Amino acid sequence: MKEEILEIPTTLRGFYIETYGCQMNTADSEIISGLLNKNGFSHMEQADNADVIILNTCSIRDNAEQKIHERLKHLRYYKKKNPNVIIGIVGCMAERLRTELIENNNIVDIVVGPDEYRKLPELINEAKEETPGIAVRLSRVETYDDITPLRTNNFFAWISIMRGCDKFCSFCVVPFTRGRERSRSLNSILEEVIQLKESGFKEINLIGQNVNSYRDDKFDFADLMTEVSRVASTMRIRFTTSHPQDMSDKLIETIASHKNLCNYIHLPVQSASNRILQLMNRTYNIEHYYGLVEKIKKQIPDVSFTTDIIVGFPTETDEDHQLTVDFLKEVKYDGAFMFKYSPRENTKAWEMGDSVSSEIKSSRLNQIIEIQNEIASTINSKLIGKTFSVLTEKESSKSTNDWFGRTETNKIVVFEKGNAQRGDLVNVQIIKSNSATLFGRIVE
Ligand code: 5AD
Ligand code: SF4
Repeated sequence: MKEEILEIPTTLRGFYIETYGCQMNTADSEIISGLLNKNGFSHMEQADNADVIILNTCSIRDNAEQKIHERLKHLRYYKKKNPNVIIGIVGCMAERLRTELIENNNIVDIVVGPDEYRKLPELINEAKEETPGIAVRLSRVETYDDITPLRTNNFFAWISIMRGCDKFCSFCVVPFTRGRERSRSLNSILEEVIQLKESGFKEINLIGQNVNSYRDDKFDFADLMTEVSRVASTMRIRFTTSHPQDMSDKLIETIASHKNLCNYIHLPVQSASNRILQLMNRTYNIEHYYGLVEKIKKQIPDVSFTTDIIVGFPTETDEDHQLTVDFLKEVKYDGAFMFKYSPRENTKAWEMGDSVSSEIKSSRLNQIIEIQNEIASTINSKLIGKTFSVLTEKESSKSTNDWFGRTETNKIVVFEKGNAQRGDLVNVQIIKSNSATLFGRIVE
């Protein structure tokens, strides 16, 4: 797809972008920044003096959207201070709510869905001439593979390898906000990886809503992983998210047999009740899922697993919920992202009502959070005394003396800075742990 470079008035230059939601949005914000940068705008770290303020939004649950509505109330202050400031809503919420966002918020100037980011420079210019701009068409082909993302981190990179989702899980708004599944070409991904390697990057994360269904002609996701592993043999390679239906033996073998493919798998289960899984249109049963976990653990013995769980899906009974509780205890995940079901308009589950009360959802959620914390604490306490290679990411939010980093298995490690710098791989021996964090010290 050809990119058009527009002339930008010299008075309009700085943009600030705020990102909500999943890693796809983080990667998209870098694509948007790359695109705007190429068209004469400059990226700003603060909203204060920006000419354009962009919110890259999420629609996955109602509370994600509420957060944006709250943020828009705050942004009125910027508009009052500078009526010329342009406020843009992009991403999933733009796709879902469209003109409603402009009609209900007289401060929103532009609304752009996930497949129309190329129109942003033009829409920003037009909005300056007082016409609100809207572009929300979904595409079957757009992958932005010719856009160089503007990365603010210089040793860790997200690489979006595919967009959209065709799974239509009955609870999920993503197929409606991000459209049909499409993959980037293998060559364009490899070129990006090589460039990152040459610029000194240490870790990349290949992302997509459902990376297991990646396809470029005869190449599948396992082939892509093999190629990426080969061209970036010195880098750590992660990937997310996997769907249990498409996790092939070939992929498991590929991860097991390549040292730089990280032994960490995020495998959302959502529920352990087959009745609920069927209503969710997850297309696997819990026996299949458990078989996968067993197979992966056998072939990749030090693998770490995380999952996603939804409690309170329509008609979920105490018995259904108990199956999920028992399953968590059985699998013993290293971590889990746990959510209360949130009805989303247009989805199949929307038609099923919202039969589980908010109180029951809360009590089921609290119960599994408590159980999962205990499980993770036990797993992590067994790591005390062991030494891991840790990539130093950033300063710990709790102490300026400590770094925050991750092991290959995606465990968070906090350790005294010593001589380590951001981006360094260091050996850290674990001395203490809790359910979410390992604490250690650098060893030679
Ligand atoms: N309500 C609650 N959780 C949801 N998720 C997706 N849609 C919903 C919804 N309507 C969760 C799923 C998914 C994760 C990204 O978000 O667990 O795996
Ligand atoms: Fe949503 Fe299911 Fe697609 Fe994940 S696989 S994005 S939960 S529809």
